[in-house]
Amino acid sequence: MFVSDCLSVNKEGHLTIGGCDAAELAREYGTPLYVYDEEQIRKNCRAYVKSIEDNYGGNGLAIFASKAFMCMEMCRICKEEKMGIDVASGGELYTAVKADFPMDRVVFHGNNKTKDELVLALESNVGRIVVDNIEELNMLNSLACEYKKTTKIMLRIKPGIDAHTHSFIRTGQIDSKFGFAIETGEAMAAVKLANNMTGVELCGVHCHIGSNIFDIDPFELAAKVMLGFINDAKKETGVQITELNLGGGFGIKYLSDDEPEEYGAYMNRVAKTVKDTCKGFGIPIPKIMIEPGRSVVGAEGITLYTVGSVKDIPGVRTYVSVDGGMVDNPRYALYGAAYEAMCANKADQPKSKTVTIAGKCCESGDLIQEHTDIQESESGDILAVLSTGAYNYSMASNYNRIPRPAAVMVKDSVPRVIIKRESYDDLIKNDV
Ligand code: LLP
Repeated sequence: MFVSDCLSVNKEGHLTIGGCDAAELAREYGTPLYVYDEEQIRKNCRAYVKSIEDNYGGNGLAIFASKAFMCMEMCRICKEEKMGIDVASGGELYTAVKADFPMDRVVFHGNNKTKDELVLALESNVGRIVVDNIEELNMLNSLACEYKKTTKIMLRIKPGIDAHTHSFIRTGQIDSKFGFAIETGEAMAAVKLANNMTGVELCGVHCHIGSNIFDIDPFELAAKVMLGFINDAKKETGVQITELNLGGGFGIKYLSDDEPEEYGAYMNRVAKTVKDTCKGFGIPIPKIMIEPGRSVVGAEGITLYTVGSVKDIPGVRTYVSVDGGMVDNPRYALYGAAYEAMCANKADQPKSKTVTIAGKCCESGDLIQEHTDIQESESGDILAVLSTGAYNYSMASNYNRIPRPAAVMVKDSVPRVIIKRESYDDLIKNDV
């Protein structure tokens, strides 16, 4: 019935998450409020870690793509669950450093890393820097030489696969700001260049074909293309690339009838492809890395709002306005993303009303969802939007000087604040 196992309905007819009454949480911590279920997040981490164990005998690493939901507590959870962390900016890296995350398990991404970010990465001894372009390669090499270091790198490669939610096409030459293309020869040129540098040690190659993908086929194809590149690199340059990072992108349940692949099934099939392809080329199986973000946290988080006005426009639509909006969840405004919503305090009642959920920003496009079914609702109800665990808090803004909500993590039916609610003083603290 629900998008995640962590959700249920209690005898009061209220929505629960991780055993906690959502309406109670809203009362205690205020709204808008992000709520996460820790046990389910940890289960997801374990499934990925186990699949590396089962499929590659542990010769690999499951890495949480922190852009989906970055905070100190997520770093601590990933550390305990033996995951790595992918950071894509100095700010994400700084958070991992401050959370005392083991730096050898950090992978640093980004298509336009600044000098300051690279210096921070070198000073923090980041495990792998994923180099995106020639300018970065040159800058990193000279910085590393200055620091008298040899830093481990991977090259970000465009495998030439354009993956979409339900289909994929293979393109001759992909149009993407990320990485080196194989077909133009720039990827091979980067291998040669990196191999002759003293400040960097080329360990691996990386690809990421897209996000919220429901098919396994494009992942298998990407693995084949990348292994083909590793094989070609060995033949053409003599360089043995020993690590392959296959990125993230696995789909999740936003709606009850979404049917994402079970992660184990994805991993098993891709692992078989990896093994068969390596055998075919006669090359050793590289160390395999994967970088799930959305599928670790997405379905395990919800957002709670308080309903303000309910505006029935006869013959047009009903707007149910909440005390948050595109500021805490910009995904409908940006991508037209689908979400399910419900009245948390009326979860046992039928969803009898089709409404548009609007936010409180001065912007007509500030909508959370249009034409969606929820229970008959009125001012003061607690509205829950489901599957908001990924790319909501991390993409939140302060538009209209609206403070970012707090985030609460629930474990064994006990809630605790993991990110405090921003105050008005937080909003002006950098104003001079
Ligand atoms: N690795 C790399 C290099 C990535 O760029 C990403 C996502 C991931 C891993 C994790 O992908 P995931 O498993 O979460 O699909 N803001 C968008 C999503 C952008 C994803 C960017 N990269 C959204 O809200 O849907």
